[in-house]
Amino acid sequence: MISKHNVSRRRFMGGAAAALGYLGLRPGAGLAATSPDRRPRFPFLDDEYDSLAKLSSNENPYGPSESMLEAMNGAWKYSNRYGYPDGDIQQMIADHHGVDPENILIGAGSGETLEVAGLAFLGHDKKVIGVEPTFTTVYRTATGIDADVIALPLTSDYRQDIAATIKATKRNYRDVGMVYLCNPNNPTGRIVPSREIRQLLDGIPEDVPVLIDEAYHHFIEDPEYSTSVPYVLEGRQVLVARTFSKIYGMAGLRLGYGIAPKEMIDRMRPYSTGSVNALVKWGGVAALKDTESEAWVKKTTIALRKKTVAEVESMGYSVIPSETNFFMVQTGRPASEVRAEFRKRDIAVGRDFPPMLDHLRVSIGTEEEMGRFMTAWKEIFPVRSSAGGANGR
Ligand SMILES: Cc1ncc(COP(=O)(O)O)c(C=O)c1O
Repeated sequence: MISKHNVSRRRFMGGAAAALGYLGLRPGAGLAATSPDRRPRFPFLDDEYDSLAKLSSNENPYGPSESMLEAMNGAWKYSNRYGYPDGDIQQMIADHHGVDPENILIGAGSGETLEVAGLAFLGHDKKVIGVEPTFTTVYRTATGIDADVIALPLTSDYRQDIAATIKATKRNYRDVGMVYLCNPNNPTGRIVPSREIRQLLDGIPEDVPVLIDEAYHHFIEDPEYSTSVPYVLEGRQVLVARTFSKIYGMAGLRLGYGIAPKEMIDRMRPYSTGSVNALVKWGGVAALKDTESEAWVKKTTIALRKKTVAEVESMGYSVIPSETNFFMVQTGRPASEVRAEFRKRDIAVGRDFPPMLDHLRVSIGTEEEMGRFMTAWKEIFPVRSSAGGANGR
């Protein structure tokens, strides 16, 4: 499978060359006609970057599947057009979820969806209610527009505290612009069970928008989880954010979307940038069709996560149960110090997630990368006497 991807990547570059031909530029021709010294230099190879085991940003290490690369190759011909056929990406996404296209707002990554939601539903003196640590794009957007963030602590087992979220929302009702819930949560990897989502939605005033970020939806096995998209169909004030960055390997290409009742989408639309390009749209269409590759990424990622977690736990370290393509381990040492140790060994891991500064978030890379991670782990951490793993807390 990995070699299959490598072949595809070569073909993709072939496609780039073909595209230059299509645009009337033989590779290098037009550029070389100017002074050689002024030719742009493209850093196609970056030894330092390429040699790093990238386990810090929860990316999919395999990249787009072969069918996605083929679809994107075919879309080069739209590079110079506006209003080109886009594979009906909006309709495809709507069909995928059983909603109407008017319920979908596409963005350059779900990061854009989160920002757009922040701009639409927050504003001066409004508050967003969520937990800490969590994914912080919404909080950063809020801070940028002088809105307030009420960040509640996690429960003792690192879950999002739904009872406290309901309480805080009711207490601040007049000022609450939005509730933000990351399910499963980044960086802890824990889910909010479907019954607790219902508790939240039933427990807060029905006009409070709730943004449920399902970036890691595709990796979940826990039957207590279910997507919150059905609440959109019920007409609740729910916005579900999804991304193509994780399971479909498109982080660098940028594609995500929000699913919400039409009136919420209409409030958000003025803030969206419409910056998704032709290749990305065709790549997204192919991704939704390629269920075989999706299943392979899920299976491979989960198997590698379970193997790595078991090894780390066998050395006596507690890992928070994860339903994602990353896990968080309590190292008992400042994460910044641990990161530096891994970096010396050409491995990039997590970042600081206050207040959990003695925890390390590790993304699941390829088998080879996880092997490098474990070798480094054994060099950096001693086996603890309580080896066997505390599993959980
Ligand atoms: C929970 C969560 N939401 C959203 C995103 C944004 O992803 P993207 O903008 O690449 O779609 C991420 C990225 O890591 C994430 O972890």
